[in-house]
Amino acid sequence: MKDLVLQGEALFMRPLETRDAADILALARAKEIADNTFVPSPYPPEAADEFVRTRRELWSKDEAYVFGIIEKRSDCFAGCMGLHPVQDHFRAEVGYWIGKPFWGRGLATTALRLLIEFGFETLKLNRIEAGHFASNTASGRVMQKANMSFEAVRRQAFWHRDRFKDAHWYAILREDYERQCLPKK
Ligand SMILES: CC(C)(COP(=O)(O)OP(=O)(O)OC[C@H]1O[C@@H](n2cnc3c(N)ncnc32)[C@H](O)[C@@H]1OP(=O)(O)O)[C@@H](O)C(=O)NCCC(=O)NCCS
Repeated sequence: MKDLVLQGEALFMRPLETRDAADILALARAKEIADNTFVPSPYPPEAADEFVRTRRELWSKDEAYVFGIIEKRSDCFAGCMGLHPVQDHFRAEVGYWIGKPFWGRGLATTALRLLIEFGFETLKLNRIEAGHFASNTASGRVMQKANMSFEAVRRQAFWHRDRFKDAHWYAILREDYERQCLPKK
């Protein structure tokens, strides 16, 4: 799937490009990103190049779709959001981070809504799911605002920075999405 751009009012999303590595390195080094995701910590300079290279390769094989998020008003690279399909089950998992200077502008919420639309309309998925560490209430709020439903606390589901962490799990089904898309009377 080539040259794909998802358009929102305040942002657009496109496949990662080699030149994004410098922005990713600058933004993903923040402690707040490391605390809530699986980015390397500390973040070595070569990790961003490697991240872009591997995600572009996965995209070319249709194995994962990781987008760069570009804020329109500043024309800046603001973060990443990806959809990782699980073969044979018409299901995919979402992962994301937004660079700290861009927080609180609604970018994650808009990006997640666009990604969900892409997953159901283009990839023909049946279920899209996402999880956040229990302490990460902002991310839970993003999932709620994208109309995902809370399903469960997966106790100690992840080993993260030397300890087990609970994950709060959310999902949206195709039938939920189609119901939301029905014209309101
Ligand atoms: C979580 C994250 C993606 C949110 O990005 P963002 O672009 O700022 O998100 P949005 O602006 O779309 O929405 C954030 C919502 O969380 C709310 N929020 C922010 N901090 C909060 C907190 N401590 N507790 C509860 N809600 C919080 C905001 O008020 C907003 O909700 P509202 O519109 O109802 O007021 C961003 O902070 C981030 O990348 N954090 C570090 C990495 C990460 O957590 N990735 C996700 C892993 S699951």
